[in-house]
Amino acid sequence: MKKYNKTAPEGSRDLLFEECIALSKTTEKIQKVLQKRNYNPVITPGFEFLDLFSLQGNMLHSEDMFKTIDNKGRILCARSDSTLPIARMVSSRLRGEQLPIRLYYSQPVYRIVPALSGRSNEVYQIGTELLGAEGKDADLEVLSAAIESVQSVLSGFRIEIGHSGFIKAFINRLNATPEQKQSITDACQSKNYSALTEILDGLEASEESLALRKVTRLFGGEEVFEKARKLCRGYDEKYALEYLEDLYGTLKKQNLHTNIIIDLGQVLKTDYYSGMVFSGYADGHGDAIITGGRYDRLMEAFDMPMGAAGFAVDVSAVTQIVLGGKTKSSKDNNAAPIRIALTKGRLEKDTVALFKQLDYNVDEIENKGRKLILKVSKGDRVFEIVLAKAPDVITYVENGVCDLGVVGKDTILENGTIFYELYDLGFGRCRFALASKVGEDFYAGYNIKTIATKYPVVARKFFESKNMDVKIIKIEGSVELAPLVGLADAIVDIVETGSTLKENGLEVIEEITPISARLISNIASLKLRKNEIEAFVDEIVGVLK
Ligand code: PRP
Repeated sequence: MKKYNKTAPEGSRDLLFEECIALSKTTEKIQKVLQKRNYNPVITPGFEFLDLFSLQGNMLHSEDMFKTIDNKGRILCARSDSTLPIARMVSSRLRGEQLPIRLYYSQPVYRIVPALSGRSNEVYQIGTELLGAEGKDADLEVLSAAIESVQSVLSGFRIEIGHSGFIKAFINRLNATPEQKQSITDACQSKNYSALTEILDGLEASEESLALRKVTRLFGGEEVFEKARKLCRGYDEKYALEYLEDLYGTLKKQNLHTNIIIDLGQVLKTDYYSGMVFSGYADGHGDAIITGGRYDRLMEAFDMPMGAAGFAVDVSAVTQIVLGGKTKSSKDNNAAPIRIALTKGRLEKDTVALFKQLDYNVDEIENKGRKLILKVSKGDRVFEIVLAKAPDVITYVENGVCDLGVVGKDTILENGTIFYELYDLGFGRCRFALASKVGEDFYAGYNIKTIATKYPVVARKFFESKNMDVKIIKIEGSVELAPLVGLADAIVDIVETGSTLKENGLEVIEEITPISARLISNIASLKLRKNEIEAFVDEIVGVLK
């Protein structure tokens, strides 16, 4: 039997020499900021009961946590987040302590990451919890500690602030079912503007739905407040907006506003948040390097209702940025052209046609030979085009080496979404369908059916939604072959014109979902290069409309 005693498991790694030094230095600098602000250190156990992380509102699913069984048969879980363990600790060891309680932690969290994604399942974090304090002063304390913490280690970064109640207020007033409201919340959270438009189009027209289309895109400097005010009607969103404006005004007086942008469309994944929320981005890392906000409802779950706010810095990410020397100011970063990952083949042709319609010079790409990185330009505006296979487009965008991507919805549904889906480009239209041999009754009988597909995730979700057990076999191409040679009863595949099915004696049993090309954006790029990306999207919208 093979012994795995000389390699680290996937997602884990050793840190050597300069990496250790950089990690310690980053930690020390942030610790200094927090200690000066009277935050006290705590360390929570490496393992907790899984029940702690299963509390309602926690964004982490139990399948993403490392679990083990204790000597009494109870399920334990490697620390997947530090806020819940600290809330548990405060509700027991620190019950009765004088409020507010100021704590900080510096410890790794462990989360199962998708295989071969290059992501790490061990992330060092430093964070704070301010418990038993509410109101503007408490929010300012947390926010300024967050800004100072990041400032102590990086120069080029942006922190965006929002309010969890702002978008919620508009959504609450919509004449929609709870399921539709949840889908709208999800679309706002992932900045999936095409999904949002689609759902809102299906609802009766109202001032709220009209306003929602606009407020979800409101982010930038303080001019955002003025634009938002015109769209507010209800008390809740007016309150959230005024609160945020007041907070921003105070940050400005303290000269802490230079790296702040306002994102009124900000909707965070967890339900805890009950007031101001923020996340921070830096060039060289595709995801947030800091997240935080107010979560007053959290301590209710521990029978100790009280105000709570805090943040967590991803020290592993910050250390990598520091080591990579990517602490350039935003101005320097903006000098490089926006890089777009483009799916080779059909979508490449359609995108080149779109660039032509927008009057870009596409000579390089039309005469590319075997070159994979090419330029398209119009006057001063230059884009660097990276030609890649569809799933790789997502990999390049997620990892932040490409700012934008053009990829089919089929690939997005199969590969997940740690990016923003900005626009439905309308071309590359086709659909996912379940198909089998003409005249066969797929649903007849009780035997488990075998499904061949290039899209196992899509197929699994489709049959799960039907509560149907099936055997799925992954096929790399020409999936239509599988039922013909007797490998499968049916296929889940893309159907465009329908001729491949027809010519092979197959037919659609059921349509699953429509597909078209989407413009996607890396999360950090959309924050750091907002104006350029928005200008490009506006150009596209102008011509495609
Ligand atoms: C896709 C899809 C179908 C075919 C459908 O295959 O997987 O096989 O196109 O198109 P139609 O409805 O217009 O006939 P693709 O050509 O991308 O190659 P593949 O079969 O190797 O995946």
